[in-house]
Amino acid sequence: MSGTTGWSGRYDVVVVGAGHGGAHAAAALRQHGFTGSIALVGDEPRLPYERPPLSKDYLSGDTPFERLLIHPESYWQERDVDVLTDRRVTTVDADAHRIGCDDGTALEYGHLVWATGGAPRTLSCPGHELDGVHTVRTVADSDRLRAELPAVTRAVVVGGGYIGLETAAVLRAAGKHVTVVEAQDRVLARVAGAPLSRFYEELHRSQGVDIRLGATVERLEGDSQVTGVRLADGELVPCDLMIVGIGIVPAVAALRAAGAVGSDGVEVDERCRTSLPDVFAIGDCAAHRNRYADDAVIRLESVQNAHDQATVVAQVLTGTGARYDAVPWFWSKQYDLRLQTVGLSAGHDATVVRGEPAMGRFSVVYLRQGRVVALDCVNAVKDYVQGKKLVARQMRVDPALLADATVPLKELAAVTPAPS
Ligand code: NAI
Repeated sequence: MSGTTGWSGRYDVVVVGAGHGGAHAAAALRQHGFTGSIALVGDEPRLPYERPPLSKDYLSGDTPFERLLIHPESYWQERDVDVLTDRRVTTVDADAHRIGCDDGTALEYGHLVWATGGAPRTLSCPGHELDGVHTVRTVADSDRLRAELPAVTRAVVVGGGYIGLETAAVLRAAGKHVTVVEAQDRVLARVAGAPLSRFYEELHRSQGVDIRLGATVERLEGDSQVTGVRLADGELVPCDLMIVGIGIVPAVAALRAAGAVGSDGVEVDERCRTSLPDVFAIGDCAAHRNRYADDAVIRLESVQNAHDQATVVAQVLTGTGARYDAVPWFWSKQYDLRLQTVGLSAGHDATVVRGEPAMGRFSVVYLRQGRVVALDCVNAVKDYVQGKKLVARQMRVDPALLADATVPLKELAAVTPAPS
């Protein structure tokens, strides 16, 4: 890890962004035999670490930071990867193959890998900058939140996505009163279908969380510290802490300013190449054509995507010619329930429920024009593992068979003909 500022130099590969995607890109380059020089530049003061626990086990205090590190410092040293921490890349000169950082560091690159992810969206209503209003994206965010928790009685969580629901579960377990304010008419609408949303709304309500759907925030009350949330219908929900989990904005300003094509993030081809010469983009900020999204151009906000696109870049740079074509998957943990998702359910036209939601063990299978496009599996690991094949091959399966939880999905994958 280097703390040197104002430094200049040249690397064969500069990876910008030291999250999951960036860290894996640097590691995968070495795994694939890349012998050139590598710098991994991140804007946090830490070595690359896992983000998923920040809204779960790390927030609850059950997992220490050391367990979050993707690799120890010795790993990077042994592989001769220079991890340049605590500096933000602010300029990209694509012609000169040079980047500039906010601390004056200037680096020339042979190839650039942009893996910056995104920044949490924030509220813009009056009071949004009051003390006690939190987002959760970095370990520093989670630390600030944890430090305030002992004095908190009531919390309002804005956004019923992964961040909102996972933090709501942690706060409830810590005995806090929790209200979730979700703008849409169901939670998890970006990532899951209606049957799953209904299940998670019931789950949280049964745990004592007050879930408000179709609700928006008008303003935040308080002088310096937040004391309440005024909803658009006029109701005041008192609180002494707020968590805002309303999605992310891809961190691509410097790359777009350099001319990279894209509207939501930056566009990449199947080899993760941007429109700029020798510049790749991976992870949350990379808009790519995805066959699991019916060939639409999308961004995938997941560890899986960051990891798999990083592998593709490493393979491309070491001459093995890979293309990105991975089955998307996601997971979440709330209370004692593990949600595993495979595929993308957006655009589905039918759903089949397998198993017993009332018993907390079931799957929702999503179909589009008769083909399996995604599964949400709650405490149903076998369905998740075996259903992956159905999704990967977008198989046609009789819905009645899918609904019969006594028939393992691997049997359906075996007997169902592949799509023509
Ligand atoms: P999200 O996009 O998953 O959910 C945001 C939610 O906020 C949506 O339900 C949306 O309808 C709602 N919303 C948006 N604007 C609102 C407003 N003004 N008022 C009320 N509700 C509003 O984003 P989230 O939960 O913030 O997560 C951020 C990122 O972190 C995502 O990339 C997510 O994938 C990632 N993450 C993933 C986890 C996982 O995979 N288990 C865990 C935690 C975070």
